Amino acid sequence: MSSPMPSHVSSATSLWHKHWLLERNSMLLLLAIVIVIAIGGLVEVVPLFYLRSTIETVSGMRPYTPLELLGRNIYVREGCYLCHSQMVRPLRDEVERYGHYSLAAESEYDHPFQWGSERTGPDLARVGGKYSDAWHRDHLRNPRSVVPGSIMPAFRWLFMTDLDYSHIAQHLRVQALLGVPYTKEMIAHALADVRAQDTSDVSGAAALAKRYPKALSRDFAGIPGRITEADALIAYLQMLGTLVDFKLYNDKANIR
Ligand code: HEC
Repeated sequence: MSSPMPSHVSSATSLWHKHWLLERNSMLLLLAIVIVIAIGGLVEVVPLFYLRSTIETVSGMRPYTPLELLGRNIYVREGCYLCHSQMVRPLRDEVERYGHYSLAAESEYDHPFQWGSERTGPDLARVGGKYSDAWHRDHLRNPRSVVPGSIMPAFRWLFMTDLDYSHIAQHLRVQALLGVPYTKEMIAHALADVRAQDTSDVSGAAALAKRYPKALSRDFAGIPGRITEADALIAYLQMLGTLVDFKLYNDKANIR
């Protein structure tokens, strides 16, 4: 800077009186603004990485079983999320229609989560157990057969297409890299667990339920001897919102 220092600050020695430097040099001012904002940002953000209480743990949550995870992939592939959200908002009409509002922890193992905001159809966060498997079969084959006037498209091919689960162990491994607590044992048994969940193989189903509490095992699509994409999708739909026991929460909050 070639301009001489103004006379009224030339005698001042404190840093505060060098402010004219910033006021006359826009690039220096910009740099100083960025530094100040960055410090403010760091003060707010950095502690979140070290606080354990930012991630609320909720009892009952567990990773998806291999079959449910594959069903979730089909849900994403078919674009079900384009018409269905999976987030009950904390508003009275929502809670009365769908049940307890969604907790962040309920999607902690979702990569990516399926919250959404478009609701051409109803929210599905708590649809598990609302209907029978047979209802879901009829509904996916032809929505109009169970809900006259439904505008939901039919997904008949899911019943004709065998589920490709050859890569399921690698899939669990990738999910584990992203932070989902799949154990070595879960990964080692992933292939067998897909088969056990879709059949009435009693010992396999018991081992599965031990690894994944509340896992339902049965022939979801009602096609004996085959594991179709519909089996995986219905297994996924039937577990949605069923893991957390909200009775405990309501009792604590004195809600009946
Ligand atoms: C074009 C929009 C659209 C798409 C795509 C769509 N749905 Fe729907 N869905 C609807 C509508 C509308 C309803 C309400 C009428 C009915 O029950 O059929 C509905 C209802 C449902 C219900 C019943 C919910 C309840 O609580 O009664 C389920 C379950 C469901 N859909 C699952 C799916 C799945 C799984 C997919 C993807 C394979 C899917 N939907 C794709 C529009 C859609």
